[in-house]
Amino acid sequence: QTAERQPCLRLAQRLSKLQNKGWRPRRTIILCNWDAEEYGLIGSTEWVEENRAMLTSRTVAYLNVDVGVSGSGVDASATPQLDELLKQASKKVQNPDNGTESLYDLWMASDSSLIGRLGGGGSDYSAFVQHIGIPSVDMAIGSGYAVYHSLYDDFTWMEKYGDPMFRRHVAVASIWGLVALRLSDEEILPFNYSSYATELENGAVDINKRVLGMPVSLSPLHRSIKQFNRAVLKVDSELQALQTWKFWSPWRNNPLRVRDLNDRLMMTERAFTEWEGLSGRPWYKHMIYGPSLYNDYGAEVYPGADDAIQTAKKTNTSESWQSVQHEIHRIARVISQAALVLSGGLT
Ligand SMILES: *[C@@H]1O[C@H](CO)[C@@H](O)[C@H](O)[C@H]1NC(C)=O
Ligand SMILES: *[C@@H]1O[C@H](CO)[C@@H](O)[C@H](O)[C@H]1NC(C)=O
Ligand SMILES: *[C@@H]1O[C@H](CO)[C@@H](O)[C@H](O)[C@H]1NC(C)=O
Repeated sequence: QTAERQPCLRLAQRLSKLQNKGWRPRRTIILCNWDAEEYGLIGSTEWVEENRAMLTSRTVAYLNVDVGVSGSGVDASATPQLDELLKQASKKVQNPDNGTESLYDLWMASDSSLIGRLGGGGSDYSAFVQHIGIPSVDMAIGSGYAVYHSLYDDFTWMEKYGDPMFRRHVAVASIWGLVALRLSDEEILPFNYSSYATELENGAVDINKRVLGMPVSLSPLHRSIKQFNRAVLKVDSELQALQTWKFWSPWRNNPLRVRDLNDRLMMTERAFTEWEGLSGRPWYKHMIYGPSLYNDYGAEVYPGADDAIQTAKKTNTSESWQSVQHEIHRIARVISQAALVLSGGLT
């Protein structure tokens, strides 16, 4: 099959064309194909574990495309600091089914206009996000289709029904490539943590509803989210200042300050992980996003608190509610840590 019909090959082809014209990315781009996804995400997991030191010290982002095309409409999930970048990139890609509008227009007009989160265990972003805390994106055109994982899920189906002109494949390759180019080339990483703060807050509201009337205090969590919010505002004003003074900013001639800001933007996601991991599931180290204990595909915000609440609701012992409180403290601790990293308190 030609590269036009395979988003990953097409992306590789375009990057190589750019290279032939003399372009060199500021940051390295690694193209990966995973084996054994259906057998417990073995390929990507082994690779992440094998390369943990390199990945945790210098990876900016991971961009996942699993079922690239399965129909019409945009289906996107991300860790929240990448929301804005994803939206901006989608404005630059044509809607494959209607040349007069953008992928963004198509996306916003549909029911799935919300950006999903990466707490589920359903695809290869799992090890990147949930084990080592790498900012990640998962992108597709279409979601859910009748022949999924069946005998009929083949090239003939794609040519006849899924994407007869292969324009949707081109659209996936385009948004994938645009996001990759901006992440690899921009002097300051195009991360915006303000929707992360909103997500943390929404998660806290959910937890609050579920522990209402129980002996659990959420004030450590609220305090840490406030601290995170302040860090977001601080970094935002640094970024705004940088944009305003683009041409003669003191930053321009100060690579150490640029490096410092980029390190903070990159390492904030890492700070949401904790070495001990979720209680009883130590491989899952991310305290904000992880699969539910009761549903591997179900994405949970604060999975550790979710597990503890489910147990406490069943047993209703004072010990079980203390465990919920313990989980709240652990979550608050990583959020404070992330706030400290983002605001530059550790550099
Ligand atoms: C294509 O998009 C334009 C702009 O949103 C809209 O007016 C038009 O009806 C669409 N065409 C089709 C065939 O859906
Ligand atoms: C980040 O996103 C927020 C909310 O959308 C926006 O107000 C802010 O200007 C953005 N920051 C930057 C540096 O673009
Ligand atoms: C849980 O235990 C508390 C204190 O022992 C009791 O007041 C409450 O009614 C119990 N709730 C349920 C749903 O059993």
